[in-house]
Amino acid sequence: MLCAENLTKIYRSGEEEVAVFEDLNFEIRQGEFIAIVGESGAGKTTLLHLLAALDTPTRGEVYFFRERISGFSASERAAYRNGKIGFVWQMHYLLAEFSALENVMMPSLIAGGDFHSARSRAAELLAEAGVAHAADRQVGELSGGEQQRVALARALINQPLLLLADEPTGNLDARSAERVSALVEKFHREHGLTSVLATHNLELARRANRALRLANGRLTDAAIPEVH
Ligand SMILES: Nc1ncnc2c1ncn2[C@@H]1O[C@H](COP(=O)(O)OP(=O)(O)O)[C@@H](O)[C@H]1O
Ligand SMILES: [Mg+2]
Repeated sequence: MLCAENLTKIYRSGEEEVAVFEDLNFEIRQGEFIAIVGESGAGKTTLLHLLAALDTPTRGEVYFFRERISGFSASERAAYRNGKIGFVWQMHYLLAEFSALENVMMPSLIAGGDFHSARSRAAELLAEAGVAHAADRQVGELSGGEQQRVALARALINQPLLLLADEPTGNLDARSAERVSALVEKFHREHGLTSVLATHNLELARRANRALRLANGRLTDAAIPEVH
């Protein structure tokens, strides 16, 4: 489903160059649940941004179903980001002054979806995420764990094939992190997703089928019990 070929990211600022990683080659098959682990600064966020077509590689390619992401036109990139993938970040990036329901509906409305079907699908996803009670509340009033569950519901509104999550439990206490981890796993399974998560959370990483460790610019297989 996703394939990286000689994927390289080098940041340049003035004279200085930071090679985050060079020549990564890997494949992610449909239905896999992958945890990317590695220390802070290892390049996990950079890698997820490349997979999401939010950033462009210095060299190399990402293929989505054999299509070259870097060859996408601006509108193909937008359709890829809005329709094919769902994202969740460490910071939820919900709109605080809108209700949970409105936040979840938004990507569907942006994609030109019908208001009533967006609304009923958003309500269903909030229920699946265990936050139906929060549907009409302003997101800014919800707890961190509830906000992250709303963010997961929003990520699924356009029925993506791929879920990308960057430390989705990073800002949560242990109990909320556990509930969000369980929800990621449930959504992965019940929505037939392919999921790629960067995480420091052992409890979340243990739910994955495969763990990859990013360290010193290299991506290697990691044994799941030892991911941390
Ligand atoms: N926009 C940027 N410009 C320059 N360096 C950056 C930029 N973004 C990230 N980096 C550097 O790239 C490396 C990897 O960062 P990041 O992908 O955020 O790692 P992680 O998510 O694993 O903590 C770090 O050394 C970071 O300082
Ligand atoms: Mg990061």
